[in-house]
Amino acid sequence: MRASNMTKLILLLSIVWLASSPRIAFSLDGDSESGERIYLKRCGGCHGVDGDGLGPGSERLVPPPRDFTSGMFKIMSTAFDGYIPQDQDIYEMIRIGMPGTAMPGWEDILDEQEMWDLVAYIKIFPGFDEETAGPAVEYGEPIPSSAESIEKGRELFLQDDRCSECHGKDGKGDAIKRLLGDNGERTWPRNLTKPWTFRHSNDQKDVFTRISVGIPGTQMPSFADPGSKKMLSVEDRWHVANYVKSLAKIVRVVNPENTVIKSLRVEGSVPAEVDDEIWEQAIPSSFFLVPQIIAKDRHFTPSNDTITVRSVFSADEIAILLEWDDRTESLPGDEDAQKIADPEVLYQDMVSIQLPITVPEGMEKPYFVKGDTENPVNLWQWASRTTTESQNTSLVKAAGFGTETELATNSLAASGAYENGTWRVIFNRNLTTESIDDLQIQEGIFIPIAFSAWDGSNGESGTKNTLTTWYWIILESESTALPCIGALIALFLVIGLEMLWLRNSARRRDPAT
Ligand code: HEC
Ligand code: HEC
Repeated sequence: MRASNMTKLILLLSIVWLASSPRIAFSLDGDSESGERIYLKRCGGCHGVDGDGLGPGSERLVPPPRDFTSGMFKIMSTAFDGYIPQDQDIYEMIRIGMPGTAMPGWEDILDEQEMWDLVAYIKIFPGFDEETAGPAVEYGEPIPSSAESIEKGRELFLQDDRCSECHGKDGKGDAIKRLLGDNGERTWPRNLTKPWTFRHSNDQKDVFTRISVGIPGTQMPSFADPGSKKMLSVEDRWHVANYVKSLAKIVRVVNPENTVIKSLRVEGSVPAEVDDEIWEQAIPSSFFLVPQIIAKDRHFTPSNDTITVRSVFSADEIAILLEWDDRTESLPGDEDAQKIADPEVLYQDMVSIQLPITVPEGMEKPYFVKGDTENPVNLWQWASRTTTESQNTSLVKAAGFGTETELATNSLAASGAYENGTWRVIFNRNLTTESIDDLQIQEGIFIPIAFSAWDGSNGESGTKNTLTTWYWIILESESTALPCIGALIALFLVIGLEMLWLRNSARRRDPAT
């Protein structure tokens, strides 16, 4: 190959490499005048025309839109004692937004140049256009993830309670600490097993950056600060990042396409304990819990966000296992729970399963919150009371909000176990009962099912709770025939629309932290 061809090839290869490498984005020169025009149209509504965070859309947003004049940036890669973010940090924030807050990502709406123009403009509010940012964090040589690195990271995470002090022993954010942000607002250490709740991402490099810089404005500290007794070397920070990354609980990730819980047939009797081995065979299905905002009192600051369901059945019984993360056991009288309760009134943790009393024909379903007069529902409820087991369980009939009547529990029983930030609650019932107010459970048909949860230490009780829309449960007999495809498509459409509506209204009213 001739030299010039060689050069061309190398050039071509580097272009291909750069184009295919998503981490490398070149900083473009931003034009702040163009940035101002875009800002007034797209950002001022929340961040205010003067950048003070007081736009008309800022009301009731938790957390509130940033006041740019304060010069505080949470997600940045400037080495620990610097306070000015790298331009690239602001750019990335505008591009992908801040999940879990009202801050949207703009990459589908604005082009690269427009986003750089915004970077140039936003820097004017705190006067950062006149200053230079300090150096970015030193990354050294990244250490690839491996079993050893993860184990090393786990030791460092737990050593002197370095991270577990706030994030809990298993990283579920369940340490007993009352944390406040710089503006006095309540904040929670992230549940590191749920990467979808991260404000930025759980990429190894991003976690490394957060560990190195901390999250300004919150109590998440920098572990590159030489003044800190818990400081970590660059190498150790990579190990911890690998450990954090390894915590993501894949089985509890919501798959929006899965709308059916498959109950597994077992020989003999169904388990009555949450840690029975049989649960490992049952297929887990996870669903989003969204705050209840339809009836008063509405709920805007939920803490529970997903619930995982498994089920098995025998010739005459069914068992349903519910699992969700919750920072506290919320037992009234429990001092630990009281310490972080918000507000300081402490309610119980609760969970309920909602089922129609009569399985509807075709695609009809009862109103999804507590049913309606024509389609009453059963609520199987469990509460974290300390008193006798039987009082933990209740059976309720409802035909709309405020119509709840308590029934005799008949064969319904429930029990719960709390461990390291996770509740697991099991419900057992006979498939059929004598009562006309009970759902009679049959094999091989799609039965609508929905869930609600209450986090007592988060002030949740009554209508202040989180819930799912309707899904389906099916007891799979050998001969279970699939419903015809047309019906299935209609069914998914309905669920999709309901979910969309619920989530949109949640977002419109008040995005939660
Ligand atoms: C719907 C309201 C809303 C709109 C519209 C909005 N933001 Fe935000 N933005 C927020 C909220 C809320 C936060 C603060 C989150 C926090 O403090 O955790 C935020 C934070 C930010 C931050 C700070 C990030 C950090 O690392 O601390 C930047 C930068 C930002 N927004 C830029 C923009 C730009 C540029 C636009 C317009 C293209 C825009 N925002 C539009 C709500 C909004
Ligand atoms: C003093 C309490 C405290 C300690 C100690 C602490 N964190 Fe945090 N951490 C927090 C808080 C609070 C947040 C959430 C901040 C917010 O409101 O966004 C957080 C957030 C995070 C996040 C989320 C980043 C994102 O994108 O959302 C990660 C990752 C994290 N911490 C890792 C660690 C690791 C690893 C350690 C130990 C090396 C550690 N933290 C030590 C309080 C702490």
